[in-house]
Amino acid sequence: MDDLPRRRSRPPERAWFCSDLHLDGGDPGGVERACAFVDHALAEGCDGLFLLGDVFKAWLGTNSLRDAGLAPFLQRLAGAVRAGVRVVLLHGNHDFLLGRHLEQALGVEVPGRSVDVILGGRRAHLSHGDEYCTGDVDYQRLHRVLRFGPLKGLLAGLPHAWQVRLANRIQGASTEATAHKSMIEMSIVDAEVERRLSAGADVAVCGHVHSARDAELEHGRLVVMADFESTGSHAVFSGGELRLVRVDPRWVLGRACVVALDGPAGSGKSSVSRQLAARLGFGHLDSGALYRAVTTAALREGLAPDDGAGLGELVGRCSPSLDAHGAVSLDGVPVPDSELRSEAVTARVSRVSAHGAVRAGLIEVQRGAARLGAGLVAEGRDMGTVVFPGADFVFYLDASLDVRAARRLAQNPGEGQDLATVKDALAARDHSDSGRDVAPLRAAERAEVVDTSELELEHVVDLLEQRVVEGIRRLLSEQRAAARVPPGAQGSGARQARAASS
Ligand code: DC
Repeated sequence: MDDLPRRRSRPPERAWFCSDLHLDGGDPGGVERACAFVDHALAEGCDGLFLLGDVFKAWLGTNSLRDAGLAPFLQRLAGAVRAGVRVVLLHGNHDFLLGRHLEQALGVEVPGRSVDVILGGRRAHLSHGDEYCTGDVDYQRLHRVLRFGPLKGLLAGLPHAWQVRLANRIQGASTEATAHKSMIEMSIVDAEVERRLSAGADVAVCGHVHSARDAELEHGRLVVMADFESTGSHAVFSGGELRLVRVDPRWVLGRACVVALDGPAGSGKSSVSRQLAARLGFGHLDSGALYRAVTTAALREGLAPDDGAGLGELVGRCSPSLDAHGAVSLDGVPVPDSELRSEAVTARVSRVSAHGAVRAGLIEVQRGAARLGAGLVAEGRDMGTVVFPGADFVFYLDASLDVRAARRLAQNPGEGQDLATVKDALAARDHSDSGRDVAPLRAAERAEVVDTSELELEHVVDLLEQRVVEGIRRLLSEQRAAARVPPGAQGSGARQARAASS
């Protein structure tokens, strides 16, 4: 039931999607973060920007067009249109009064509740997502009434003060009702998505439920973005692929996040940290690989693992580095994995890494990795204690020696070792890593310790991902509370001053 005619346009090649920004003219921080996101998308060469509903906390027709607090964001959208970007805003449950006035003022498209676009030859059905939540009967009833054409016209024509009062009443009632509803009532009903997909779409993209999900259903793919407002979640179509970004702290906290993950060999930290980084869209730092690189260089030069002075000098000379994909180089030349993970290196690396000069020589290379992208998952022995003591999230993975040895054996079946030998080697490495004087292996005081002995890998990744996403929401609310101005200090005067300066 789209209520405005659609335009024909070229399929986008690099499109950005997000939803549930809940922009409010009285919250300049939120508006600024949304502007930064649009700027970033444009800088990345975006040719389609699709905002899938609840872009605004409330949209009160042409009155909202004049909201000075929203002006920077509206100007950004108009600028994007002028730069040749197709900008589409869909109705959400908060901003269903978006309409032609916005199209005329900014040049954007407001096709109504949904729109289909072709992404790499596949049809994507874009919508806010509330239509899939059919378990929430009260919500569906209320929004059928509110979307009734003549009533919408009436609402749009009301004096501004009445509109604000009504919007607040509806939002208050909705927040109150939401608090008493079950997760089932408020979640997406897959059968509804299947119905939509089987009616002629390859992928359904939406938001609304504030929790990210990327699933292959029977009739196609479902991509659900979490709310941009508190997670920075979005989706990007580029290079023929549609990628869901579950959380991006840059658009929420204004900076990247570091997740520190320590633990002994075989605790699962390498597999967990790699998968966690991939799910979050963060970079991955395998700090052990840097110590292995220095050990490789020492072996090549015939330096003994106990020659602290020689090794300290070697670190400065061999320039160990990591690229964005985690490949390790010495003097700019990639080190083959077979050499890095060879038995000879594994047998010496713990002793090499015990020297203070070696550790000091690698600290800046490791910290440099945190300066790229949305965030970093850093794994090692001293991530939470020494390299990133201020990390936003600190985990320590552990598992019993038996379980760790069995995992190692399963990982390297071709090496012909028996369980007892692997166990002895791990115990010796544990002893050396945790017994050394400099940066010994131990859980940071504030680390969350996770014993993975009885857990599937997938389960550990789920748990850590949930902690990070929830943690970013918590950091955001702390940041907001700290920035909150005492009542009365930011009255209508400040608002008028903003209006006058725009
Ligand atoms: O994670 P790994 O097995 O690749 O690590 C190899 C060795 O490097 C390990 O025995 C201890 C050392 N290491 C360290 O001392 N500090 C780190 N942050 C990472 C690894």
